Amino acid sequence: MNKPPAPDVRWHPAAITRPLREQLNGHPSAILWFTGLPGAGKSTLAHAVEERLHRMGCRTFVFDGDNVRHGLCSDLGFSQKDRAENIRRIGEMTKLFIEAGVIALTAFISPFRADRRKARSLVADGDFLEIYCRCALAVCEQRDMKGMYAKARAGEIAEFTGVSAPYEEPEQPDLILDTAQLSVDACVDQVLRLLSARGILPKQGMSDMKLPPLDRI
Ligand SMILES: Nc1ncnc2c1ncn2[C@@H]1O[C@H](COP(=O)(O)OP(=O)(O)OP(=O)(O)O)[C@@H](O)[C@H]1O
Ligand SMILES: [Mg+2]
Repeated sequence: MNKPPAPDVRWHPAAITRPLREQLNGHPSAILWFTGLPGAGKSTLAHAVEERLHRMGCRTFVFDGDNVRHGLCSDLGFSQKDRAENIRRIGEMTKLFIEAGVIALTAFISPFRADRRKARSLVADGDFLEIYCRCALAVCEQRDMKGMYAKARAGEIAEFTGVSAPYEEPEQPDLILDTAQLSVDACVDQVLRLLSARGILPKQGMSDMKLPPLDRI
């Protein structure tokens, strides 16, 4: 629960509202919350989905676990309390992005159900889509792109999710992506189908094909 503000801290209403921003952007805002074990594919998929959405003319932004720990959350560690604060800040940030009319994508392990539930509770029903990147621990450990599992097994990193800290699987995610079975493209297609079913894609979206490749924009 956030602390209530001091009595003389007043909310200043904005004339430019979420619906006006969404109208300008041509699509609704949403939070795509990717969760899963280290190495499950959250960053890969959040960025790949963003790329597809960007090509369709959507306003997007990716919050990536490692990136925010360089700045916004650089004071936090990996204890359960700090992880909760990390996710609380990202929840509040993505809530602002919802007001800004943007599709915010997050790539955080976010291992605790209670923390994810709190982030969801900050926004209206339907604004928060929980996407579970499901992947067996053994596969994640084999991928070990950053060498973190090896360090955790060697006892060099404490409280490493999957090894020495728990991961609580989502009970009712909006989407499950089996990243050990499916290709990145197939996972991205599933996310796009989910967004289409929820009415989040631009109505008169520009086709991928009409835009130049990203590196020429
Ligand atoms: N279907 C898939 N979806 C996502 N990643 C996949 C898939 N198939 C294979 N991979 C590979 O798995 C790895 C996932 O790494 P990534 O950095 O995205 O994981 P992460 O969940 O963000 O991990 P961390 O929590 O450590 O940041 C990449 O090397 C990616 O190419
Ligand atoms: Mg990542």
